[in-house]
Amino acid sequence: MDKGHALPQDIRDLRHCLRMKSKYAILLVFVVALVIIEKENNIISRVSDKLKQAPQPLMEVNSTDPGLVLSENGSLLSLSELDSAFSQLKSRLQNVTLQLGGTREPTVAQGPRRHVLLMATTRTGSSFVGEFFNQQGNIFYLFEPLWHIERTVSFEPGGANAVGSALVYRDVLKQLLLCDLYILENFITPFPEEHLTPYMFRRGSSRSLCEDPVCTPFVKKVFEKYHCKNRRCGPLNITLAAEACLHKNHMALKTVRIRQLEFLRPLVEDPRLDMRIIQLVRDPRAVLASRIVAFSGKYETWKKWQKEQLLNEDEVQRLRGNCESIRLSAELGLRQPAWLRGRYMLIRYEDIARSPLQNAKEMYRFAGISLTPQVEEWIQKNTQAPQDSNGIYSTQKNSSEQFEKWRFSIPFKLARVVQSVCGPAMSLFGYKLASDQETLTNRSISLLEERRAFWIT
Ligand SMILES: *[C@@H]1O[C@H](CO)[C@@H](O)[C@H](O)[C@H]1NC(C)=O
Ligand SMILES: *[C@@H]1O[C@H](CO)[C@@H](O)[C@H](O)[C@H]1NC(C)=O
Ligand SMILES: *[C@@H]1O[C@H](CO)[C@@H](O)[C@H](O)[C@H]1NC(C)=O
Ligand SMILES: *[C@@H]1O[C@H](CO)[C@@H](O)[C@H](O)[C@H]1NC(C)=O
Ligand SMILES: *[C@@H]1O[C@H](CO)[C@@H](O)[C@H](O)[C@H]1NC(C)=O
Ligand SMILES: *[C@@H]1O[C@H](CO)[C@@H](O)[C@H](O)[C@H]1NC(C)=O
Repeated sequence: MDKGHALPQDIRDLRHCLRMKSKYAILLVFVVALVIIEKENNIISRVSDKLKQAPQPLMEVNSTDPGLVLSENGSLLSLSELDSAFSQLKSRLQNVTLQLGGTREPTVAQGPRRHVLLMATTRTGSSFVGEFFNQQGNIFYLFEPLWHIERTVSFEPGGANAVGSALVYRDVLKQLLLCDLYILENFITPFPEEHLTPYMFRRGSSRSLCEDPVCTPFVKKVFEKYHCKNRRCGPLNITLAAEACLHKNHMALKTVRIRQLEFLRPLVEDPRLDMRIIQLVRDPRAVLASRIVAFSGKYETWKKWQKEQLLNEDEVQRLRGNCESIRLSAELGLRQPAWLRGRYMLIRYEDIARSPLQNAKEMYRFAGISLTPQVEEWIQKNTQAPQDSNGIYSTQKNSSEQFEKWRFSIPFKLARVVQSVCGPAMSLFGYKLASDQETLTNRSISLLEERRAFWIT
C-alpha cells in the first residue's frame, strides 16, 4: 500500500500546509484526530474484510458496531477514548485469532518467563545487539515484526498520526509477546492461507523461525524473499511458530518502531509479561552518517546539502524529532517511575561495541536470563575478527575499531547541524560535541564521555 495513499487528498493537502506552518498547534491537533480516525477506519475495514473471508462461523463483526465507530462527526477524541477503542479492536482480533487457531492447549515452558523488548531506532546497531538474544537457544526472538504493521497501516513516522500508530504497535506487541503470532496475519499481505505464509519479514533473522520444527521440509518452490539463511524451509506455518514460541522459555523482540517509552506502560504493567525494556542509543552523528550510506535514496536531501550547502528544514525537523523522542523516553526511564522500576535499562551502542561480552552479560543479568555458551561464542566470533593480510575487513568486524568510523565519513558541517538540533540528547547520553573538523577526525580525542556504560533503573 502506498504511503499516504489511503488519505483523502484534502487531508494530505492540509498536512502539507501544516508542515509549513507548524506553529499552528491547535490545527495540528485537529489533524491528528482526523488522521487517526481515518486510519482507524482503515484497520477496521481491513479486519472485517478478513473476517468475511474466513470460512469458520466466526463471531459477528459489525462494522457499524458503536464500540468501534470513533466519531462520525469528526469531533476531537481524547487519548483515553482512542485507547479503549484500540483495546476493543485488539480484543476482537485476539478472539478471532483464537477461533482461527482452533483450541490450542499450550504447554508452557517451565520457570519464570521473561519478555525482553529491545527498543531502538534505525542504524543504532540494534540488529547486532538483537543477535545477542537471537543466539540464546531458549529465547524465541523476533526481528522487527512491526514492519508488517507499519506497511499495512502506512503511518508516516513522526507524522501527525504518530499517536495512532503507537497504540496499534503497542497492542500488536503485547499479543506477540504472548506468542499470539496470529495477530500478524491481519497485517501480512497477501493474507496467509491456512496460517501459511512466505512473506514473514526477515524470517531469516530469527533462528526460532528457521529451526526444527518451525522449518518444515522444503517441497515446493515458493519465492520467499526473507528466507532462512542456512537451510531451505517451507513457507512459515504460523501455528508452528506460535507453538515454538510457547515452548521456549523466554521471548525477545527487537523493534525500531516504538518511539515513546510511555506508550509501553500497559505492557510493563501486565503481570503476564514480566517485561524488561532495553533502550539502545547511539551517537546521533554516527546514526546520520550510517543512514546516509544505508538509505541513500531517502537521505538524498542530506547528501545534496552536503554538496550544495542547502539546508532542508524538513530534514532538520525530523532529526530533531527523532533525537527528542529518544531523549524523552530515556529521561522517563531514568526518572524511575514506580511502574518502570527494575524493568528499564539504557545502554549505549558505543559501550557495547567496545566491550560486547561484558555488556551482553549485563543485559542478560538485567533480563534475568542466563547467557549461554552459544551467545558467548557468537560474540567472540563476530566482534574480534582481525584485519586479514590484505587489509580488508571480513563481514565479521572488530567492533571496537569500527564504532568510530563515522567520524571520517561525515563532514563537520553536517556533524555541526546534528549537534545543534540533538544537543540535549547528546549531553544526556554523554556524546561530546566536536568544535571543528580537526577534532572530529582526530582519533586521539574521544567524543565519548566515560561514564557508567549502562543505566538500570
Ligand atoms: C449490525 O448492525 C445493524 C445495523 O445497525 C443491525 O441491524 C444488526 O443487528 C447488527 N448486527 C449485529 C450482529 O450486531
Ligand atoms: C459528535 O459525536 C459524538 C459521538 O457520536 C457525540 O457525543 C457528540 O455530541 C457529537 N458532536 C457534535 C458536535 O455533533
Ligand atoms: C473476546 O472474548 C472474551 C471471552 O470469550 C469476551 O469476554 C470479550 O468480550 C470478547 N471481546 C470482544 C471484543 O468481543
Ligand atoms: C501447520 O502446523 C500445524 C501444527 O502442527 C498443523 O496442524 C497444520 O496442518 C499446519 N498447516 C499446514 C497448512 O501445513
Ligand atoms: C580491535 O581493535 C582494537 C582497537 O584498535 C585493538 O585494540 C584490538 O587489538 C583489535 N582486535 C583484534 C582482534 O584485532
Ligand atoms: C590530535 O589530538 C591530540 C591531543 O589533543 C594532539 O596532540 C594531536 O596533535 C592531534 N593530532 C592532529 C593530527 O591534529
